[in-house]
Amino acid sequence: MMAKQMRLDRFLAEMGQGTRSGVREQIRKGRVTVNGSLEKKPERKIEAGKDRIVLDGREISYVCLEYYMLNKPAGVLSATEDKKREAVVDLIKEKSRKDLFPVGRLDLDTEGLLLITNDGELAHQLLAPKNHVDKVYYARCKGRPDEEAIRQFEAGFVLPDGLSCLPAGLKVLDSKDLPEGDEAGLEGTVSEVLITLREGKYHQVKRMMESAGCPVLYLKRLSMGPIRLDPALKPGEYRPLTEEEVELLKKR
Ligand code: URA
Repeated sequence: MMAKQMRLDRFLAEMGQGTRSGVREQIRKGRVTVNGSLEKKPERKIEAGKDRIVLDGREISYVCLEYYMLNKPAGVLSATEDKKREAVVDLIKEKSRKDLFPVGRLDLDTEGLLLITNDGELAHQLLAPKNHVDKVYYARCKGRPDEEAIRQFEAGFVLPDGLSCLPAGLKVLDSKDLPEGDEAGLEGTVSEVLITLREGKYHQVKRMMESAGCPVLYLKRLSMGPIRLDPALKPGEYRPLTEEEVELLKKR
């Protein structure tokens, strides 16, 4: 790993050891050594990735870029932080870095794959509309999308407000006629579908399905580009991406 020159207080703050003022206090109190020597100056320049930084006897290693896949649960906000609600980055407990953010957004009630990283360059590549990164969603919806809806998705849907969408995939996996007085209060037909989008407009799946006459009841993202949600992850669980997964994302 390339060494990077930075201030000692910034290094400790970026490695998640506290706020900038908090770590300054720790340094001034003599709790930090650099290459075995006590260092009380927060402004001391260090070579991150080369110098040995120890706080309270614990070596703080330099982590430059972090990548996680999260199975976002419903009710958690796709944000780095929020005053009122839990945010997705709060769910990543072992993070080393303070600068993680979600790659794009899922609605509050949507579940599924959300990549969390501090790699701004990669996030930009994945989100840039011109790059057309495929996102696959599983949805349960009211009704059953007909051939015309599938054709409209493939041709490029135009929403009632005039917003035109790029060609998208719609595949019906299953349809069931619910018995009357179903416990969820639903009636009629409910279908399970897969939707593939190459862009990420606001509430796009929900708006397209609503326009097709099949409002979404449940939505979960299964994949983003080459990365599929690990089926072992329950909602709220996450794991670091493997090196191969990171390579796959960067190769795109
Ligand atoms: N489309 C939606 O409508 N909601 C999401 O969360 C993602 C895609």
